[in-house]
Amino acid sequence: MTRHLLRDDDLSPIEQAEILDLAVELKQDRWSQRPLEGPQTVAVIFDKSSTRTRVSFAVGIADLGGSPLIITSANSQLGGKETPSDTARVMERQVAAIVWRTYAQAGLEEMARGTRIPVVNALSDDFHPCQLLADFLTIREHKGELKGLTLAYFGDGRSNMGQSSALAGVVAGMHVRIASPIEYAPREDVVADADRIAKTTGGSVALYTDPLEAAAGADVIVTDTWVSMGKEEEKLARLRDLGAYKVTAELMSLADPAAIFLHCLPADRGYEVDAEVIDGPQSVVWDEAENRLHAQKALLVWLLRQQG
Ligand code: CP
Ligand code: NVA
Repeated sequence: MTRHLLRDDDLSPIEQAEILDLAVELKQDRWSQRPLEGPQTVAVIFDKSSTRTRVSFAVGIADLGGSPLIITSANSQLGGKETPSDTARVMERQVAAIVWRTYAQAGLEEMARGTRIPVVNALSDDFHPCQLLADFLTIREHKGELKGLTLAYFGDGRSNMGQSSALAGVVAGMHVRIASPIEYAPREDVVADADRIAKTTGGSVALYTDPLEAAAGADVIVTDTWVSMGKEEEKLARLRDLGAYKVTAELMSLADPAAIFLHCLPADRGYEVDAEVIDGPQSVVWDEAENRLHAQKALLVWLLRQQG
């Protein structure tokens, strides 16, 4: 059966761990897996801007023996002119997989329903599961086991990064704290899904409005931009509403002394995080950005294996 990665809980705990193990192997021996030898092509479609996702998929697909086809949707028929399912039906006869960065999660779901090749969410308004695989590879490298660690996320909890942190975290058996104003908390259905998964993995998800309480003793501190792509018109309100959730040196001092700091980047220093934190000794953001390459290669290898 064709498998897709549209949201973090599309992977079971065992599958998430398998992909992370594979990512460790691929990081040690970068050209050891060549499932796209031929070369076969993978389409990588962007409805929104990107640096890391574009580079890491292009390089990763080439590393796997394949050929990346990078498409900017503004110059394609996708996006108003042709449906995601018709697009997928055309592409599936020529490419091995589709990677898509878009706005609505519903578009990804429609594309996945309409095709027999894997569809990967390269960021939507709701989830960023590729980023979380890279984040968890990074956490494993710095802290060992994921299970039982406390991850605290600060800022826009309803963003792709807030919601993916909640879901991926409980899949890994982590204790996830989301610190945000109530109106920026993750969607109720996402919290309910995270809660249900947590009961099976020994993890937990908890919502906080007090950032100091959320930081206390945490092993991993995470934040992201306060103004995600597509939210630019809300910028002034967001800077006002989220100001209290900035990751400062003072907030970091409340976490476990060995805590690490993650940010998916791009970062706005002085807004969601102070320069002394992101450029300081606890920050692992450059490892995290590199790990997009290794984690996504592992994901593609794994998805292609499921194709049989
Ligand atoms: N973190 C991330 O997805 O970065 P890009 O927007 O540059 O791809
Ligand atoms: N939440 C951010 C992530 C960027 C990689 C956004 O959607 O713009």
